Amino acid sequence: MAIRRFSEKKLTAEVLHRIRKTKNRRLKQVMTAYIKHLHAFVREVKPTPEEWMQGIQFLTETGHWSTDKRQEFILMSDTLGVSMLVDALNYKASGGATQSTVLGPFHRENSPEFALGANVAKNPADGETCVISGTVRDTAGRAVAGAKLDIWEGGADGLYDSQKGDEMNLRGVFRTDGKGRFHFRCVVPTFYPVPNDGPVGKMLVATGRHPMRPPHLHFWITAPGYRPLITHLFRKGGKYLDSDAVFGVKPELIVDFKKGRDGVVTASYDFVLMKEKK
Ligand code: BEZ
Ligand code: FE
Repeated sequence: MAIRRFSEKKLTAEVLHRIRKTKNRRLKQVMTAYIKHLHAFVREVKPTPEEWMQGIQFLTETGHWSTDKRQEFILMSDTLGVSMLVDALNYKASGGATQSTVLGPFHRENSPEFALGANVAKNPADGETCVISGTVRDTAGRAVAGAKLDIWEGGADGLYDSQKGDEMNLRGVFRTDGKGRFHFRCVVPTFYPVPNDGPVGKMLVATGRHPMRPPHLHFWITAPGYRPLITHLFRKGGKYLDSDAVFGVKPELIVDFKKGRDGVVTASYDFVLMKEKK
């Protein structure tokens, strides 16, 4: 067979033609879009060979920084708004259901289970104690009893437990009571930076951005028959609410952490779950 003359204009079509036999339809759709968009990106940017190599080195470095404890690619997805975009396209809260937000890299499997009312903070230095309470309901307003609330947060030093070692702290699993109610103690959330000592941190600096996240507490709420809800509660008045490094803030998730006359800080929230898709 004669070898066809190279044509920059026809190159994209030729690459697409080469994957025409891809059996998996979804993979074919994904690869087709990927090749088209990647070629369009290169045509728009017109990188020099040195710039293209710089891009490849950035991705290589991102891979080298990734371990089972540090996922630099997820961080890149988070800081470029892609994690929030994927979530927005997949979790459409309707019927008064609670809004979702980004999972982040600090969730851990097998968090300790606690009785309602327990304090997830092990040390006084973890931060100022606060009481979080509320309910879990469905979109018809019915209480969801036995819903699992997996919660986690960073401490006053701006770090999650896993950034300091293997010991679990400032995280735990609670279950709602027969009326769908929950309450527990933790620390008043503070703002902190996303890990920024790697390539993603360099990208943030180079693009004139800060690495900070506003004060928040993570929730992953599950119950049989309902769609899992991954979300945060953000602290009203907290710094960086309008410039979260990972674009996770939704106004519906901002709550008041109030200090009562007794000096105790409290916050409450009523979560609403959507039924599982049939
Ligand atoms: C977090 O909230 O824990 C987080 C989310 C995305 C990237 C880094 C940290
Ligand atoms: Fe967080």
